[in-house]
Amino acid sequence: MAPLVLRTVAETAAWAESIRRSGRRLALVPTMGYLHDGHLSLMREGRNRADVVAASIFVNPTQFGPSEDLSRYPRDMTGDLAKCASVGVEVVFAPEPAEVYPPGFQTYVDVEKVSQGLCGARRPGHFRGVATVVTKLLCLFKPHVALFGEKDYQQLQVIRALERDLNLGVEIVGMPTLREADGLAMSSRNAYLSPEDRKRALALSRGLSAARALCEGGTREAQALVGVVRRELEAAGLREDYVELMDATSLTPLSAVTPGQPARLLVAAFVGTTRLIDNQPIGA
Ligand code: PAF
Repeated sequence: MAPLVLRTVAETAAWAESIRRSGRRLALVPTMGYLHDGHLSLMREGRNRADVVAASIFVNPTQFGPSEDLSRYPRDMTGDLAKCASVGVEVVFAPEPAEVYPPGFQTYVDVEKVSQGLCGARRPGHFRGVATVVTKLLCLFKPHVALFGEKDYQQLQVIRALERDLNLGVEIVGMPTLREADGLAMSSRNAYLSPEDRKRALALSRGLSAARALCEGGTREAQALVGVVRRELEAAGLREDYVELMDATSLTPLSAVTPGQPARLLVAAFVGTTRLIDNQPIGA
């Protein structure tokens, strides 16, 4: 059945309240639309964990920098609603920007530490925008559980922190990155890639896998592991934005992988003008 599309905060709050009052568990999957199988896996898992699944489709202007791709971000509301229907999403909140940020809006959420490095350092204000809109969505729906993809790994840690710090009482679930058959992490931004760039983009996942293999072979130093990823990017002619080995929870830099300390290797690179990110656990 096609999902019910809600455009206003007032009707969404009323709908969510009616679900909670009926004693049913509610799952929320926030998205910016142009849905792929990664999003659908979050929605399916939402169904496993709750009685009712809602999604939001909102290209959030506050998380885009002035020189970023807000105006050309891919959109396909008709296709997205069909995909939501196929996995049993009951309600889609799809507001206009002025509904989320009405005149006079002046309250933002800053997650200080975990937002700092990686994408936070390269995209000033990005995580402030993400944290603000996610906080608003969690306060609006008051879901029992909300699901996010690990492809945006730093974003997931930012959301875990804000949920905890603001006592929102929502279970935050991170789901593994879904990949195309050749290893490319699924992303709405893959739609920007020409066939040639699509092939070159594989350097991100290839580099991460090569680093993991090296680590499994006993190499633990960040320099060596990062170096492997860098070489793959260079060989494919991609411009590195960052390659870093981090503590998996605090996202502070590590000089080496050590047993018992979960670590994550994260990469961002430009394929032509398209910026892609990917990450993998390493050495756990
Ligand atoms: O991951 C995304 O699509 C967005 O950053 C999110 C979490 C929906 C907030 O706009």
